[in-house]
Amino acid sequence: MSHQYTAAVIGAGMGGRVSMAGLDASPRFQLVAFADIQAEARADIQEMYPGIRAFSSHQELFSACPTDIVCVSTWPPSHLEVTQAALQLPLRGILVEKPLADNFAVGRRILELIRARNLPMAVPHGLLVADHSTQVLQRVHAGEIGQLKLVEIQCTGWDIINAGIHWLDFFVELTHREPVEYVLAACDASTRTYRDSMQVETLAVTYAQTTSGTRVVMNTGDYVSFSEPVENTLFRLVGTLGTIDFYGWENRYRILNAEYPQGQLFEFDPGPTVLHQRHLENLAAQIDRAQPDYTIAEGSLAALELCEAAYVSIRNGSVPVPLPLDDFTPPPAVDWQPGLPYSGHGGGRNGRRLPPRPQQDDPTLRTAQKEDK
Ligand SMILES: NC(=O)c1ccc[n+]([C@@H]2O[C@H](COP(=O)([O-])OP(=O)(O)OC[C@H]3O[C@@H](n4cnc5c(N)ncnc54)[C@H](O)[C@@H]3O)[C@@H](O)[C@H]2O)c1
Repeated sequence: MSHQYTAAVIGAGMGGRVSMAGLDASPRFQLVAFADIQAEARADIQEMYPGIRAFSSHQELFSACPTDIVCVSTWPPSHLEVTQAALQLPLRGILVEKPLADNFAVGRRILELIRARNLPMAVPHGLLVADHSTQVLQRVHAGEIGQLKLVEIQCTGWDIINAGIHWLDFFVELTHREPVEYVLAACDASTRTYRDSMQVETLAVTYAQTTSGTRVVMNTGDYVSFSEPVENTLFRLVGTLGTIDFYGWENRYRILNAEYPQGQLFEFDPGPTVLHQRHLENLAAQIDRAQPDYTIAEGSLAALELCEAAYVSIRNGSVPVPLPLDDFTPPPAVDWQPGLPYSGHGGGRNGRRLPPRPQQDDPTLRTAQKEDK
């Protein structure tokens, strides 16, 4: 029989509970402890798993009950602190929830720290292990809808950083991690909505394009209305030879291409296994062969860069944010109101006599603005 690894979960909310369910159901793990700062969450879990130990902080858990693996399932702003403390243990593997952190720089730091320990790692993006979406990935990569040109995403009840990161992570994988030229986003924040300890948008649109021109357009927010009847998420993948539609976590997709000119729906039995269990068992396999695999973590970090670039774009008045994000410097504010009549004086430039396009690798108009001064 394969070795069984002891496991602890920090944070007993929605994310922690799916890790606990996966650990409990898997023969590869023994769930021995969890920590949560809220007494109510601890009481719930103790009722569900009477045999495991409960702690009110990760520090107490780590000193009283070190385990082989730790799942960091708290809210994103505390992922670094909990991960750093976990890395003091003689750990064999670690799961860090998406988003790796509340911002790209800290997410990268977390990955660097784990990599420096050569520690096996999981980041549980469910679409990378679900039957329907992995088949969608395979079909797109096999060219079954030709060259992928556009990924349209509609998602209600959620935001860019919390659910959008799953969707953008899928875009990153669909495009074989092709570099993204720039991200441009706009949002309304009038309702002051927060979710999972992050301030988020009321309604937003995020746009990005890769260097070869594949676009993603993602509409997120508290109440997004759909272009067709779907529950909460719609993906529309448009290629040169066909389309694929699917519906987030729902176990089905529809393909339209030369082989299925009338369109064909493929449906899957979700089965009893929670998607976190698949990621956790992949983590166990990494530990077994003593070979970490950071592929998913790197994709997740790339998606976090897109999320942060979207928020940076919004914070700067919806300017294009070229990647890498590290190189971005906010442009000066511009006194110009597109859509108002041009008075005929006050500077500007004639859009019918544009200068040659700025360098191909600088998609923003900032270079042009500098030339214009
Ligand atoms: N991969 C997925 O499919 C998936 C699904 C759900 C949530 N998540 C992720 O899980 C993380 C947690 O989100 P959630 O939905 O579980 O939130 P939640 O609000 O449901 O629960 C978070 C829990 O963590 C506890 N907590 C917060 N800080 C803590 C700390 N420092 N120490 C111990 N406990 C702490 C809170 O008391 C709460 O019970 C987020 O990163 C979220 O994106 C991932």
